Amino acid sequence: MRQQIGDEPDPAVGDEVVAVVAPHASILPGWFPPIGRNRLPSVDDMKISILGTGNMAAAVAQAWIGAGHTVTIAGRSADKAAELAGRLGAYAAAPSDAAAGADAVVVAVSWDGVPDMIELAGGSRGALRGVPVLDCTNPVDFGTGAHRLATGSAAETIAAQATGASVVKALHLYAGQMWLTSQERPRVVAMCGDDEAALDVVGRLVTDLGGTPVAVGGLDHARQLEEAAGFVVSLYGKGVDPSTAIPSVG
Ligand SMILES: NC(=O)c1ccc[n+]([C@@H]2O[C@H](COP(=O)([O-])OP(=O)(O)OC[C@H]3O[C@@H](n4cnc5c(N)ncnc54)[C@H](OP(=O)(O)O)[C@@H]3O)[C@@H](O)[C@H]2O)c1
Repeated sequence: MRQQIGDEPDPAVGDEVVAVVAPHASILPGWFPPIGRNRLPSVDDMKISILGTGNMAAAVAQAWIGAGHTVTIAGRSADKAAELAGRLGAYAAAPSDAAAGADAVVVAVSWDGVPDMIELAGGSRGALRGVPVLDCTNPVDFGTGAHRLATGSAAETIAAQATGASVVKALHLYAGQMWLTSQERPRVVAMCGDDEAALDVVGRLVTDLGGTPVAVGGLDHARQLEEAAGFVVSLYGKGVDPSTAIPSVG
């Protein structure tokens, strides 16, 4: 039995609650709010569950907590989830409980671990049905930039495995740490998905990081967005700033 998000934190509630820390209890030193953040006034603070305990999970969790959202960290390692949650002022939960009550679930694990994590989260059993699922994974070879799937995309693979989930591809192109720094120019986050409501939710989350969300189409655009990450990686590997390799149009 997992303690529901929004309950008063109670560390004794059950063994699946690996850490319960009052939201906003502590923000990492050096944190400052994203500049240019444009919160929509009608938006309530959201409950975001993050699958993953690594660098990306930590960065976006910190940024969303700073924006006033309630974040739950869920990892295959309960100890790592508890440590990260305690450090940031988030809740922690088992992956199997991550979707319960969440307004959005973020998949932030290495591509190799995605099928395992979706299974742990109950995706094939319908636990993510109707939930906006933000896929920020990069199924690319970081040496060459090549896409690791012969066809299709990570986002479509997740959608196929997570029965009924509303998958949105987003946030994979920017380093997570960038959302914790000031910005001199707009950071456009190209995203795609088939569910307008889920795109709206993810768009609000992007906005709250300080990004500018732009939906470019349905989930069948995901491979293009993932290939863009490979393009970035391959140029970066040549010592080139990828943004200098794109013509300014219009
Ligand atoms: N870091 C960024 O700035 C950034 C930016 C955009 C997108 N991304 C994408 O976000 C994803 C995570 O990146 P990261 O930088 O956070 O990586 P990371 O620091 O190496 O963390 C990887 C995470 O994946 C988990 N994982 C690996 N194999 C797993 C498995 N079989 N089952 C369950 N969980 C598993 C790890 O759990 P354990 O610790 O238990 O091994 C860890 O929580 C990647 O797809 C990456 O391309 C990252």
